Order: sequence, then C-alpha cells, then structure tokens
Amino acid sequence: MNKIVVTGATGLLGRALVKILSQSNNVIGTGFSRAKPPIEQLDLHDQAAITTFLDTHQPNVLVHAAAERKPDICENDHQATIALNVQAAEFLARQCKDRDIQFMLISTDYVFNGQSAPYIEGAQRSPVNFYGQSKAQAEQAVLAVSPQHTIVRVPVLYGDVEYLAESAVTVIAEHMLKHTNSAHDDWAVRFPTHVEDIALTLNDLLTQTRDKQNGIFHISGNQSMTKYDMAVHIAKILNIDTQGLEALPEPSQTAARPYNCALQDTRLNTMNIVHQRDFATALAKVLSQHTS
Ligand SMILES: NC(=O)c1ccc[n+]([C@@H]2O[C@H](COP(=O)([O-])OP(=O)(O)OC[C@H]3O[C@@H](n4cnc5c(N)ncnc54)[C@H](OP(=O)(O)O)[C@@H]3O)[C@@H](O)[C@H]2O)c1
Repeated sequence: MNKIVVTGATGLLGRALVKILSQSNNVIGTGFSRAKPPIEQLDLHDQAAITTFLDTHQPNVLVHAAAERKPDICENDHQATIALNVQAAEFLARQCKDRDIQFMLISTDYVFNGQSAPYIEGAQRSPVNFYGQSKAQAEQAVLAVSPQHTIVRVPVLYGDVEYLAESAVTVIAEHMLKHTNSAHDDWAVRFPTHVEDIALTLNDLLTQTRDKQNGIFHISGNQSMTKYDMAVHIAKILNIDTQGLEALPEPSQTAARPYNCALQDTRLNTMNIVHQRDFATALAKVLSQHTS
C-alpha cells in the first residue's frame, strides 16, 4: 500500500484524488485556506513547514495538485503565480528527490499553443498565456530536479463542485441559470475531463513499477467541444431554452487562450490505462446536486 500525500486536497481535483486514492492507499491531503481535519493545513510557501511535514509523515508518493489555475488571475499577478506554480513545485520536487518520494506534478494542456493538435507527450511546450508559461516552467524545473519524477497534463476539469462557479464547465450553468440570454465561446476546442477519471487513472498508474511512472503523461476526455457546445448540453440537462444561447466565434477572455490543445494519451493507452465517461451523463449528475 502506498502512503500518498495530495497537495491541493481542498480543490476540485484534489478532493477527487483523496476520495479515489484512499480506497486502496493511505492518503494524507493538504490544503491551505479551506483545510480542516482530516485535511492538514500546509502553506506551500513555507519551506520549513514542508520539510517538517515530509519528515513527519514520510510518504512514498506525493501528488502535487495545488496551483493557481485561473489564467486571468495568473496574468494579473506574475509574482504570486511564479511563487506557487513554479517555486513551490520545484522545492517539493527537490525535497521528494532527497527522500526518494515519487513526485507527481499535475500540469495542464495550456503548456501548448493549440495550433498543432493533437499533442503527444514529447511535443514542444509553447504556452500562450502566463498560466501556461508558469506550468511549463514548473514541468521543466521538476524534470531537471529528477527525470524520474512524473508530469501529468490534464485539460479543463469538471466534477463534484462545492459551488457552480468552481469549475470552468459548471460556471457556464451558473451563468445560464442567472441570465435568460448568454453568450459562450464557440472558438476554442476543449476536452472536458471528469476529475474522478484523472484520479482513477493515477490510481492505476501507481500500481505500475516505478520505472514505468517516469516522465510526462497525458490524461484527457475524448469528447471535443466548445464552451457553446457545453452550454447546449447544459440547456438540455436543465431544460433551458437554447434560443437564449449565443455562439461567440472569437475568443473573448482577458488572458490569451490556446485554440485546441487535444492531448494524445499514447503512453497510458499503451499501458491499457483508460478511464472515460460520457460528458452529458456525468455533468447531469454533477448539476443535479446544485439545481434540485
Ligand atoms: N481546473 C481545471 O480546469 C484544470 C485544468 C488543467 C489543469 N489543472 C491543474 O490541476 C491542478 C488542480 O486544479 P484544481 O482545479 O483542483 O485547483 P483549485 O480547485 O483551484 O484548487 C487549488 C488548490 O491549491 C491550494 N493552494 C492554493 N494556494 C496554496 C498555498 N499557498 N499553499 C497550499 N495550498 C495552496 C488550494 O487550497 P485552499 O483552497 O485550501 O486555499 C486548493 O486546494 C492544478 O495544478 C491545475 O493547474 C486544472
């Protein structure tokens, strides 16, 4: 049985990681502002606290999911973004290497510019916004600390949210519930992926021998859609008239977004590790917890 630390355990992905990985491992989750028992509070800017934490708990795996993941926030505060997304990741990677802890960095499809999809694991990084740059830097720093460390790139996520605005997918539903007419990006191609499919995939990856867990992995849902397409799905689920939906043919956000970062999960496919679910069915389940 692995002893696994999950950072970002109060976040959207971290909660699913704790839930799924706990079924067959000893898991300790850490968070920051939302941490309450059994989740431990660990400020990832506090290097002394990190080393004490690792010496106390002595995990053999650390999944690092904590990050600032909102591109518009990253664009407006480069210093804080680098401190959390790059420096904290590099420090953790170093501490893990020194203690022989398998380190897994959760990264993003936004390390690519979206102009030449699909992307294989070894494709060159080409981020178009500061969030993507920070995650690309983190990947490079982590692999420079040790090529034995693991990078897991994922696309836009959805799953059991604490509130609808928590994920870039369910926030669309919140907007549609508040406004009869709403406009949605019909330009960028996305592959919404359920957080529990990421967690199930990592759970399987962790059963492989350690030499098979090294380097970069891609995990992605297989249904491509724009945010406008997601809005149409949501309209059907929530019984909202699609007449009020407007498709925006151009990107409209503050920070630049890549066009299509489809991630090819070649390595995991070769290992026969694939977890997929139907978007509309899974999203209906998520939304039912907030709309009934
Ligand atoms: N969400 C997506 O669509 C998406 C897409 C691609 C990649 N990713 C990547 O997936 C990972 C997880 O994303 P997510 O959506 O689950 O993020 P999230 O819901 O925004 O959660 C962020 C987590 O980071 C923690 N955190 C923030 N500052 C911290 C600090 N100083 N010390 C310790 N912990 C701190 C937060 O703790 P508190 O809330 O307790 O403060 C929270 O647990 C990230 O690496 C992200 O880049 C996400």
